[in-house]
Amino acid sequence: MAKERAQWTGRLGFVLAAAGSAIGLGNLWKFPYITYENNGGAFVLVYLGAIALVGVPIMVAEIVLGRRSQKNAVGAFRVLAQGKAGGQLWRGVGFLGVMTGFVILSYYSVIAGWTIRYILMAVSGELGGLAHHPADLQAFFGEFLSNPYQQILFHSLFMGATIGIVYFGVGRGIERAAKLLMPVLLTILAMLVIYSFWTPGFGEAMRFLFRPNFSELSASGVLEALGHSFFTLSLGMGAMLTYGSYMRKRDSIPRAALTICALDTIIAISACIIMFSIIFSFDFEVTKSSTILFTTLPVVFFQLPGGAFVSALFYVLVAFAALTSTISLLEVVSSYAIDELGWPRRRATLTMGAAILAFGTLSAVSMGGNAALSNINFIGRPSTAGVFGTLDYLASNWFLPVGGLLIALFTGWILSRDETREELEEGNGPLGWKFSLWRFLIRVAAPAAVGAIIVSVILGAEYQ
Ligand code: PFF
Repeated sequence: MAKERAQWTGRLGFVLAAAGSAIGLGNLWKFPYITYENNGGAFVLVYLGAIALVGVPIMVAEIVLGRRSQKNAVGAFRVLAQGKAGGQLWRGVGFLGVMTGFVILSYYSVIAGWTIRYILMAVSGELGGLAHHPADLQAFFGEFLSNPYQQILFHSLFMGATIGIVYFGVGRGIERAAKLLMPVLLTILAMLVIYSFWTPGFGEAMRFLFRPNFSELSASGVLEALGHSFFTLSLGMGAMLTYGSYMRKRDSIPRAALTICALDTIIAISACIIMFSIIFSFDFEVTKSSTILFTTLPVVFFQLPGGAFVSALFYVLVAFAALTSTISLLEVVSSYAIDELGWPRRRATLTMGAAILAFGTLSAVSMGGNAALSNINFIGRPSTAGVFGTLDYLASNWFLPVGGLLIALFTGWILSRDETREELEEGNGPLGWKFSLWRFLIRVAAPAAVGAIIVSVILGAEYQ
């Protein structure tokens, strides 16, 4: 008899693990800097719209596919597409997802590794010394990025932690880690938001974020907001599908999806409030917005009372957020090997983890460590230079939106109305008009919006 599929122990286990997947570097590192580049207000509003109209319905769809099929990303399409239009071709969507998980984890873990270095420096006092001389900190950061040994070391440490948790499986590994890390993360974040309330820049930060001025938003900003909503919610590659496959039938999918999306959004906005309050408290010029987290924030942290403590806390927060995301990325790949290739979990996690670690070293040395790997640029834009830039571009602008579009089309047009309705009402009760609204969004609104991103990327709109 087949072994019974592992399950989360309860509703909270699933919500925390899935929110842990969603909340990560996308919220704490990427969202603040793209918000800054797109001038706040109007961009934030469009982002909120994208989460509500595209993110929530696709999140629901992914969880439906996972829980209905009780399978990994490839297996879900194998089972659900049987006898339907397109048949086994749909498995390609699952393969795309597994490959995307492999690729994203390989470079995501490199950036996540930087947080380990920063925690160590905050605790040892080294960061305080550097932060008092911004030019020294910039120089340090540049050297750190181009030091191949250090990049590989911290990337390996982060991958090691990720593999170590996924190795123990759904309940004893992933759920336990989420239940430990997520409350700490939320507490640290709440403390920092309260702290930022007392900084002189708080008022300006709130105006920047919540006073929309549409003349400052470009068309590419709209697309960037849409594209980012996939990355930040871990959508388009089967992460939510895989986690959904461990969800109990008696829990409600719509309620869980709304909670996860709300938590992810609150964290992204809180990260902006914290960072902009601190930055606007000083007459500080942000030169390169993509490194705000590592070169700007330490400088300002140490001009405020308790800088050493606050900065250490902050980097622990970022590390924990990244860890619950890397866990979910590895789980997508591992669960594929477990279900489809029949490997035992331990072998699946160790083998796939090692392969991703090895592949990630290419990204690790492409920040200046190795000239050839740092300079290759197939796409030809400044932001797509190097192995790292290329992979991030491909994953965020192509793989996730294409995966998300196909997931929306499959759930909306290939699965029957009754099938999806039954799965959504299981554990929730009758949904009435809310089901019709979701079905409209997943069949029409989400594909149209995502299709627009893809077309504009094809047409070469500056979208990054
Ligand atoms: N959602 C994560 C973040 O915002 O950092 C990144 C991510 C995790 C993307 C897992 C995709 C995924 F499957």
